[in-house]
Amino acid sequence: MDANVAGNVFGGTILRLIDEVASIVAFRHARKNVVTASIDRMDFLGSVFIGDLLRLNASINYVHRTSMEIGVRVEAENPLTGQVRHTGTCFLTYVALDKNRQPTPVPPLTPETEEDKRRWAEAEVRRNLRLQQIGKASN
Ligand SMILES: CC(C)(COP(=O)(O)OP(=O)(O)OC[C@H]1O[C@@H](n2cnc3c(N)ncnc32)[C@H](O)[C@@H]1OP(=O)(O)O)[C@@H](O)C(=O)NCCC(=O)NCCS
Repeated sequence: MDANVAGNVFGGTILRLIDEVASIVAFRHARKNVVTASIDRMDFLGSVFIGDLLRLNASINYVHRTSMEIGVRVEAENPLTGQVRHTGTCFLTYVALDKNRQPTPVPPLTPETEEDKRRWAEAEVRRNLRLQQIGKASN
């Protein structure tokens, strides 16, 4: 069900794991119900095979009023050789909802390290582009 006859894991199966991991990070920040508002373009840089160990590292990059951008880096490890391949990176936006399923504010995030600040700045550019593409003003 999750792989083709050649032993490649389906991209959709990996996307599902990405969404699950990222939503946990968003939920933990918001401590409220969150929904996936968007998943940015995802390039599969290399195949993942049956038997590979998948590593999904997720970080919260940016927080606006009710939305959060989470980045997920996917790596596949061949357990026999220990070789690790970077197979993809994806950016997802989650929105926190209140009891009436309306967008509701989330706690602010202050980037502290240089790495945090770089991620924040890059995420802000992506947010503006994303909202521009769907015809929403970024305020
Ligand atoms: C995501 C959703 C809540 C946005 O609702 P909306 O009425 O458009 O809300 P608003 O225009 O007030 O925007 C609310 C926030 O969502 C962000 N947003 C809205 N659409 C977005 C999109 N397509 N991509 C990224 N962010 C988006 C806005 O930028 C805003 O963020 P901010 O408050 O931090 O500035 C709504 O479209 C929805 O419920 N979608 C279905 C979600 C879902 O079922 N996902 C799959 C299963 S979890």
